[in-house]
Amino acid sequence: MVLLQIRNLNVYYNTLIGKVKILNDLNLDVDYGDIVGVVGESGSGKSTLGYAIAKILPPNASMTGEILFEGVNLLNLDEKEMQKYRGTQIFMVFQNALNSLNPVKKVGFQLEEALKIKYQKMGKKVSEDEIYKEVIDVFKDLRLPDPEVIYERYPHQLSGGQIQRVIIAMALLLRPKLLIADEPTSAIDVTLQAQVVNLFKQINQEAKISIIFITHDISLAYAMSNRILVLYAGRIMEEGNTEEIIKDPMHPYTQGLIASIPKVSKSSGKLYSIPGLPPSFYTLPAGCKFHPRCPKVMPICKEKEPQEVHVNNRRVRCWLYE
Ligand SMILES: Nc1ncnc2c1ncn2[C@@H]1O[C@H](COP(=O)(O)OP(=O)(O)OP(=O)(O)O)[C@@H](O)[C@H]1O
Ligand SMILES: [Mg+2]
Repeated sequence: MVLLQIRNLNVYYNTLIGKVKILNDLNLDVDYGDIVGVVGESGSGKSTLGYAIAKILPPNASMTGEILFEGVNLLNLDEKEMQKYRGTQIFMVFQNALNSLNPVKKVGFQLEEALKIKYQKMGKKVSEDEIYKEVIDVFKDLRLPDPEVIYERYPHQLSGGQIQRVIIAMALLLRPKLLIADEPTSAIDVTLQAQVVNLFKQINQEAKISIIFITHDISLAYAMSNRILVLYAGRIMEEGNTEEIIKDPMHPYTQGLIASIPKVSKSSGKLYSIPGLPPSFYTLPAGCKFHPRCPKVMPICKEKEPQEVHVNNRRVRCWLYE
């Protein structure tokens, strides 16, 4: 069953040097219970996609297309109607987590407030003690040291990793239908990352929360998701089942991302990286946007942009498969 349907989504940013199209005719279905890993290098448009879905794009942005959440086109909702969705139905964990907390309120209080709003909307009466305990329990799940002390702290008194976990706590407490997690573990120690990733999986399984997991790290997307979407220059290059993509990547860009995963047993001692850099949106190359960096480039790739084609249960945008 489908929770979210994105249809022909285009997102633009207006800047001093003109209007640029970032997301290009993007289509995506997210089912109930899905974890979709969104991967791609810095600047590929991953956060923009998250902001678009939650309708929190910056003021210089505009979008066209449809974002259907349980059949309702979010693009048709005004801000007041959208407020009913944000937080309890759609929740986004930001890449810069600190910005999503109120600097002058204790973190425990902020989580309490969010929980109270949730229970109010549900028409459920819950005591202060129960709410406090719920918050502390989630802190413990997230391995926050001295949960009772953290509860009393202000955001600026916490480390980046602790802030990130407070925001994740918020997501775990609110249990939205759709959780958009934008690089949620980037500030957390690697040793803790696995535990946090497991918590995401746990809420996904227990509460059937669908997750859009944004990361530049395809190995993290592999650990997390059942589907992967590979973005490059605002375009879907490949999309499909996670196991299948990792086992048999079809797009040369996906192949490059997988080859760049650091291996613990280094045979040559050298780490592969995709040559070159992603293009600027102001000076996108003609043809396939990846062609200047592609090891399999053909003459047609420089002239004409390939369309997405469906091959074996997968979407791929590459002339090799047209
Ligand atoms: N408010 C804005 N105004 C103009 N351009 C923007 C704005 N925000 C982002 N961009 C540009 O849009 C493109 C996509 O940015 P986005 O933040 O979505 O990428 P990303 O994949 O999340 O990158 P990262 O991995 O670094 O977080 C980039 O070229 C970025 O410079
Ligand atoms: Mg980002």
